[in-house]
This record gives sequence, C-alpha cells and structure tokens, in this order.
Amino acid sequence: MHKIVSRRVLGQRVVELEVEAPAMSKKAQAGQFFILRIDETGERIPLTFAGWDPEAGTIMMAFLPIGKTTNHLASLKVGDSIRDIAGPMGEPTHLEKYGHVVFLGGGVGTAEALPVARALRQAGNKVTVIQGARNEDLLMYEDELAAESDQLLIATDDGSKGYHGFGLDLLMKMIEDGEQIDMVHTIGPAIMMKMTAEKTRPHGIHTVASLNPIMMDGTGMCGACRVMVDGETKFGCVDGPEFDAHKVDWDLLMIRQTTYKPEEEASNERFKKIQEKGCECEPASDPDSKVKEVAGN
Ligand SMILES: Cc1cc2nc3c(=O)[nH]c(=O)nc-3n(C[C@H](O)[C@H](O)[C@H](O)COP(=O)(O)OP(=O)(O)OC[C@H]3O[C@@H](n4cnc5c(N)ncnc54)[C@H](O)[C@@H]3O)c2cc1C
Ligand code: FES
Repeated sequence: MHKIVSRRVLGQRVVELEVEAPAMSKKAQAGQFFILRIDETGERIPLTFAGWDPEAGTIMMAFLPIGKTTNHLASLKVGDSIRDIAGPMGEPTHLEKYGHVVFLGGGVGTAEALPVARALRQAGNKVTVIQGARNEDLLMYEDELAAESDQLLIATDDGSKGYHGFGLDLLMKMIEDGEQIDMVHTIGPAIMMKMTAEKTRPHGIHTVASLNPIMMDGTGMCGACRVMVDGETKFGCVDGPEFDAHKVDWDLLMIRQTTYKPEEEASNERFKKIQEKGCECEPASDPDSKVKEVAGN
C-alpha cells in the first residue's frame, strides 16, 4: 500500500500526487515510469515519474483525469492509499553531452519534463523546454521548469498563454532562425511526436520520442505495448519508452492506442454513475478489465 502524502492541482486540471514508495524513490531515474493499480479490481495504468524524494521516501505523479482510472485516482485524498505501484520501469533517458537540447512536451507529456530537463542539464547540455498545451488550464510546473532549464517557452493552442499555436511551431521557428539544435526530446500525443519527427528529419536533428502505447504488465510478457521501430518489433515497456523518433511506425502506434476505446468509454461512464450515487467503491469484479483481453493482442 502506498499512502498519499500530498495532493495538489497544477494549473486547473492536472493532478499531482506525492505517495510513499521508499524503495522506488531511491532507484527512479529520469524518463522512467511505474505501473499502478488503485485497488484489487482496478486496471493497471502506466505513469511517468514526475519526481522523487529519496529522503522523504516518496515519488510524484502528475496526470490528467481523462478516463475511469485517472478520474478514480484524482478522487483520492491525502491519507488514502494506492494498492500497488510497480517500478521503476523502462530504460532511463539516455544521457550524454549533445550541446543544445530542446525538450518539446505536449499536454501531460510535460509530467516527465522536470527530471529529464534536470538530468540533461547535469550532463552538460543547454536545455530549452517548450511546453505546449491546449489552453493555460493544462499548463504545469512553469516555475519549476523555468528554474531547471536554460529557457522555457510556452505555447497554447487557443492563445490563452504564451505563443498562440503549437509548441512545434516554436521549435520550427528556432530551426528556421538558424539556432543550433543538437537533439530534440519529445513527449506528448502521438500525432504531435509524429509531426515533430517529420519536421526534424530533413534537418538531420537527432530526435528521441517517449512513446505511450497501451501497457499492462510492463515486463515484456503481455505484448500490449508492442511498437514497430526501424521495421523491428519492440516493447515500449522494456525496450523503451524512448526510441529514435525517425524510426517509429507512428501510424501503427496510433491505431493500437485506440484498441479499447469503446470499453474505455463504457467503463468511464459506469464509474461516473457509481460516483454520482455516492458509492466510493468499485464493482467487485471489473467487467472492463483489459487484462482479460490481452490474449487478443
Ligand atoms: C510510459 C507511459 C507513461 C505515461 N505517463 C503519464 C503521465 O505521467 N501522466 C498522464 O496523465 N498520463 C500518462 N500516461 C498515459 C496514461 O497511462 C493514460 O492516460 C491512462 O492509462 C488513462 O487511463 P484511464 O482509465 O483514465 O482512461 P481510459 O479512458 O481508459 O483511456 C484513455 C486513453 O489513455 C490511453 N490508455 C488507456 N489505458 C492505458 C494503459 N493501460 N496504458 C497506456 N495508455 C493507456 C489510451 O490511449 C486511451 O485511449 C502514460 C502512458 C505511458 C505508456
Ligand atoms: S506492457 Fe509491455 S509487454 Fe506488456
């Protein structure tokens, strides 16, 4: 059991939880993630380490409530507990001195920006962080990112804060202005990462993307997270989540991400009804459990 020791809302909608996880707090590295299960009947979902504190024995997560499990997680309070958290998982961010690195984060992808920007800077890089979001309510960690990077640029789709447009536009402007960029690290919606890869390819800028395929066990056993990279099957959970963005089969990733859309929507509707009736518990057995369907992958 992992007790929640603090909870806050970043911007207007992103929820940050700090939870007790002493062993993980001593091992987590930038770019890694964990898989949690809120209770015995809950599904497993992966979240990135937004931070960790080995002295306090805690880890941080930041997420947008978008479906059943993230809404359930967002409803938890300080003092409540999460049943299981398994991690650290995945390969940490590859660190070397590239020169000037641009971190392009879209939406909740920015959750991993703080540890990654800090680690890349400690490796001797100049780090520019571009944070893109649909609107200012979805921005997060602005003060912290300004402190951990050499430059922080904000873009919102509706122009409510910073540049009016996509974060990728700001990256393209830097490239067109002739600014030296030695590496791009991107995380966010798959379509944003695909477009980023397409734009950096002609300029020969090494681009790494942190992929977000559906994951279940996180151990390379179930195959749910399989992705094609350079014509080879890879598992996002153990071979990634970071891959060379120029070699990823983005269209396949996007198709596979929607595999359970009808079940996810039905499950979220059912969860909302349970909440409206004032019952905090989940059904004894979750008929939407994705684990049952993994054999179909
Ligand atoms: C390595 C990794 C790190 C992630 N880190 C973060 C993070 O730090 N913050 C954050 O807000 N989100 C993060 N995500 C996405 C997060 O896992 C999904 O938002 C969450 O699983 C949605 O579950 P749900 O039941 O609330 O929504 P649902 O309605 O079930 O799903 C909404 C969408 O989320 C995705 N999704 C659903 N289930 C899974 C699953 N088991 N594995 C992966 N994706 C799923 C699908 O694209 C789906 O269409 C990460 C995903 C991966 C793979
Ligand atoms: S989540 Fe990667 S193999 Fe199961």
